[in-house]
Amino acid sequence: MRAVPTLRYLVTTVPFTAHFIDDEDGHGEDGGPTGGLTWSGRADTPHEQALIPLFAHNEMANASPADLARRVMHSAYAADFEAAFSGPGERVFDDPARVVSWLASALEVYQQSENEFYPFSSKYDAFMRHQATLSPAEMRGLTLFNAPNKGNCASCHTSSLTSSGGLPRFTDSAYSALGVPRNRAIRANGDPKYFDLGLCANGRFNRSEHDDWCGLFKTPTLRNVATRRAFFHNGVFHSLEQVVRFYATRDSQPERWYPKDTRGKVRKFDDLPARYHGNVNVSAPFGASPGDRPRLTEAEVRDIVTFLNTLTDGWKSPTN
Ligand code: HEC
Repeated sequence: MRAVPTLRYLVTTVPFTAHFIDDEDGHGEDGGPTGGLTWSGRADTPHEQALIPLFAHNEMANASPADLARRVMHSAYAADFEAAFSGPGERVFDDPARVVSWLASALEVYQQSENEFYPFSSKYDAFMRHQATLSPAEMRGLTLFNAPNKGNCASCHTSSLTSSGGLPRFTDSAYSALGVPRNRAIRANGDPKYFDLGLCANGRFNRSEHDDWCGLFKTPTLRNVATRRAFFHNGVFHSLEQVVRFYATRDSQPERWYPKDTRGKVRKFDDLPARYHGNVNVSAPFGASPGDRPRLTEAEVRDIVTFLNTLTDGWKSPTN
């Protein structure tokens, strides 16, 4: 139903809030819905998040806590699990609810391991620490990524140090509707009445209370994005060039991205019911009119992709 979201760099993600105030004394502007985990903010902690796929009928499909506990009990690591989570005189396997809870806790703690989940070891991190220089193409890409009248990418995928001096996470943890094209490879999309509405349907609210949240998905971090093979919540794109080209030409050349109806009219935002089309973001890099020059040239698209490749962890200086 959706592309697997990255689990990296989530340690500082705040629990979901409908009104995020980015200001210590609480008098800042309302940044709107922010935080939470998964593409649509269904969970607040990695503990809660881990339980979703374990029990989802289209994912790991455990029927009940007892079903899951039975599988753990018959796993290769059953003895380790029992030794780690049984107290004096009590066996963890006697209580399925405790097995589930400890299993999710183990996954939560694992996702806090620095080396695996937030090593900050990309070339861009070295650049921020003044231990590396970017190539001319990478530097051009960074400039285009930040420039408000070009990519304007950093307005959502933050690229500068945090207010307390932390390395950037390349997400503001907020939600936007980008009008991503419908992915016809998703079986559920065979039903023309089926739509993945994202934030307004994340199970926390009554849908009608938050019509303006339909079609919004969480801004993912772009760290390690060059290692991914399916992009956006519905996995419709398979290369970074395509993604960046989509940002550059969604509004100036919509016929490149959306199918036509029987009268030859381009069906823009075809993965969202018409009544929610007003939710789609039209700020830069979007907002051009059909026929306008694309916001980014092909060469500029390539420079941004080259820059995005500096966000992959495990970079080693070629000189030492
Ligand atoms: C208005 C906020 C906003 C701006 C501006 C923005 N993005 Fe995004 N970006 C998002 C959101 C939200 C998503 C997820 C959308 C979805 O899946 O429906 C996303 C997804 C992506 C992805 C897919 C990542 C993945 O893991 O699937 C890439 C790559 C990306 N953006 C790069 C860029 C680049 C490059 C720019 C500038 C040209 C940019 N973004 C501008 C909010 C933004």
